[in-house]
Amino acid sequence: MGRSVLVVGGGGREHALAWRLAASPSVDRVVSAPGNPGMAQLGPTVPVDTGDPDAVADLAEGQSSDLVVIGPEAPLVAGAVDALQARDIPAFGPVAAAAYLEGSKAFAKGIMEAAGAPTAGYLATSEVEQAYAALDRFAPPYVVKADGLAAGKGVRICEDLADARAAVDDALVHRRFGDAGAQLVIEEFLHGPERSVFGVCDGQDVVLLTPAQDYKRAHDGDAGPNTGGMGAYAPVPGFGRDDITELRELIFLPVLRELASRGAPYRGLLYAGLVQTSDGPKLLEFNARFGDPETQAILPLLASDLGDLLAASASGAVRDVEVTWHDRAAVTVVLASGGYPGSYTTGKPITGVDDADTRPEVTVFHAGTGQADGEGLVTAGGRVLNVTAVGDDVEAARRSAYAATDLIGFDGLHRRSDIAAGV
Ligand code: AMP
Ligand code: GLY
Repeated sequence: MGRSVLVVGGGGREHALAWRLAASPSVDRVVSAPGNPGMAQLGPTVPVDTGDPDAVADLAEGQSSDLVVIGPEAPLVAGAVDALQARDIPAFGPVAAAAYLEGSKAFAKGIMEAAGAPTAGYLATSEVEQAYAALDRFAPPYVVKADGLAAGKGVRICEDLADARAAVDDALVHRRFGDAGAQLVIEEFLHGPERSVFGVCDGQDVVLLTPAQDYKRAHDGDAGPNTGGMGAYAPVPGFGRDDITELRELIFLPVLRELASRGAPYRGLLYAGLVQTSDGPKLLEFNARFGDPETQAILPLLASDLGDLLAASASGAVRDVEVTWHDRAAVTVVLASGGYPGSYTTGKPITGVDDADTRPEVTVFHAGTGQADGEGLVTAGGRVLNVTAVGDDVEAARRSAYAATDLIGFDGLHRRSDIAAGV
């Protein structure tokens, strides 16, 4: 008998995880909590307060789950995996003490430093005068980061010193981010292209996944405000699995050793955000979960069993799992609500998803959708749908993905038109 897997979360990343798990020979059943209308096509969806570790553990027990896969960072930082481990339920994701890598930028910098992993020079402080003094040590542009989780709004890049000081005041004096900004990290600006590298970790060892390129800005040509991500493609020419093997020794293994020595071995997905500088790769940040929407472009390329890999991360050795990939490319285009990442309205009827999804090379992942009585599928979030296509190369995948987006409509739909262009 195959596994029964519970996927916690309800965005595009979780839909992609549930979709790939449902297609894994080792998996018989996928339950999603809370899930979304797309995930509901793969198995039961059950409401849960994802921020309540005991509620997650109660649900997993009630569902007799053999494996729980936690998608977003908030349940991890709240201790969902700790609660599951206490009941001997295998869980994919780090315990809270290890997820603190994403929960606190100062903690992450301390781990990078102790592990000897390359990163930007920095100072962490909760004192205004010390923060000002740190700014004087660096050249513009200045980087001022709230220590804690600030819903993606905690990082300010400032061209001049007056703005940087104002950013310090906002956080430390005006408490704009509440406790998340009670401590700041001031750091050196890193020049170069940004890359995200995902490692599936088992506490000691790591398997690196095919890297994807994310598009963070809202508008074409990398203009407009930062978003959670407007699209992605994989693989990235010149930055494939063979090109990143050095990152195992340089970053992942020393960081795993450091966390294990502190009694918080890291299991789950370790996301390293890097800048390729002229001095080599340097770490910007860690995340404790899969990237969104990068995952939606990576998982369609995975040929081997995702259930086996995630289960090995939870309670086995990832090096014992055979991980293979299709020699193809994937492109994901995010369809967003007009106004995102600022304010937007929801409840708009969505048309054409089935037409797009039935194309053999296309999968439409639901990110912010809902079912409304009498209306069918409606928008329910900023990032609404993630249209993914695979092809023989990035250009073929890109053409298929965009052709499929043309079949889908809702009032105010916004998408970038340059995802994976010119790759
Ligand atoms: P973070 O949440 O730390 O990833 O920061 C958000 C974004 O700010 C990153 O994706 C980068 O684009 C930018 N950023 C953060 N820190 C730096 C840095 N030290 N140098 C250059 N850009 C940075
Ligand atoms: N796409 C960026 C992230 O998941 O953090």
